[in-house]
Amino acid sequence: MIILGIESSCDDTSVALLDITDDHIEILAEKTASQIDVHKKYGGVVPEIAGRKHAEKIVPLVEHILEEARVTKPDVIAVTSGPGLITGLVVGVETAKTLSYLWDVPIVGVNHIEGHIHSVKIPNTKIQDTNKFPISNFKFPVLSLIASGGHTELILSKKQGEYERIGSTVDDAAGECFDKVAKLLGFDYPGGPKISKFAETGNPHAIEFPRPMIHSKDFNFSFAGLKTAALYWLRDNQLSASHTLSYELPAGIFGQTPEQPTINDFCSSFEQAIIDVLVTKTLNAAKKYKPKTVILGGGVSANKKLRETLQKSIEENFPASSFFLPLPKYAMDNAAMIAVAAYHHVKKKEFTLWQKLQANPNWKIY
Ligand code: KG4
Ligand code: ZN
Repeated sequence: MIILGIESSCDDTSVALLDITDDHIEILAEKTASQIDVHKKYGGVVPEIAGRKHAEKIVPLVEHILEEARVTKPDVIAVTSGPGLITGLVVGVETAKTLSYLWDVPIVGVNHIEGHIHSVKIPNTKIQDTNKFPISNFKFPVLSLIASGGHTELILSKKQGEYERIGSTVDDAAGECFDKVAKLLGFDYPGGPKISKFAETGNPHAIEFPRPMIHSKDFNFSFAGLKTAALYWLRDNQLSASHTLSYELPAGIFGQTPEQPTINDFCSSFEQAIIDVLVTKTLNAAKKYKPKTVILGGGVSANKKLRETLQKSIEENFPASSFFLPLPKYAMDNAAMIAVAAYHHVKKKEFTLWQKLQANPNWKIY
């Protein structure tokens, strides 16, 4: 079955054509137009500009992948209908509705978080033989940590399509915290990848940052205090990356003495604080809910150290659980994950008539 995926909930206009059956997932064509260059001069995503850019790009992108895959029309359209920025969501949803009417094909409205959970199924080869890579169906219960610019959530699924939120951030999302602290350092948006690059050669124990809520009994997160601690540390130590180059700084620049932490140490210690909280909470949740499958997804799951640390911790502490990660490319927002998430809904004929489909910026799956 050929599914056209459409994703426009934030700052990526993404479309993908996938051929999905119970036995395989094949990416026929995919294309994403990133808006990062436009938004970075404002230090974050500007919703009104995002909407206009999505509107400019979406139809040419759909046309492009249909031509590339030599497909006249798909069997199903899968579109992110929420949560996300309303200015972006309406563009994807209205495009899906128009195409559904024009082609007479059904629509599945997909939740963006459900998309991130299913991103781990996307193959690293063009065709994925699910017999060799048997994650077309997860073993339940599934515990998912989804960490992105807009979300930090622990979600428990006891069966396909059922989701219970067992924890979430009470203030900033993990990716938002990375981005805000990166901005303090003078890095462009999105700052998460830049912090993790600098962190590679830093000392994670150089600065003792707080690990908010790490010992709380619940599975909630808080990152606002960490951001404030980072702000005060930078103010007190007069460290800034606004004039730095993208390679390791020798100690002694910007008023540092050789003994003082470098930018790399700062990034590494800050990254470590976020990772410690995310990993500890996920392990605590795994202890309580005994999942057969653990998933890490969302933009922050592109972070190499987080990927390695969580994988190792799950393998060591819960050897009976399977751990899945998206390929780094599919950690970020993309349309392929929306098509994959839609497949289960298609099988249950969970379609929405184009006349009824609406963008819902606050849609919760739990
Ligand atoms: O899932 P995503 O593409 O968009 C949302 O749904 O929010 O996530 C984007 C977020 C940004 O905050 C970005 O800084 C963060 O993911 N991110 C990272 C890394 N790569 C992307 N954070 C930390 N380390 C990374 N390597
Ligand atoms: Zn996302």
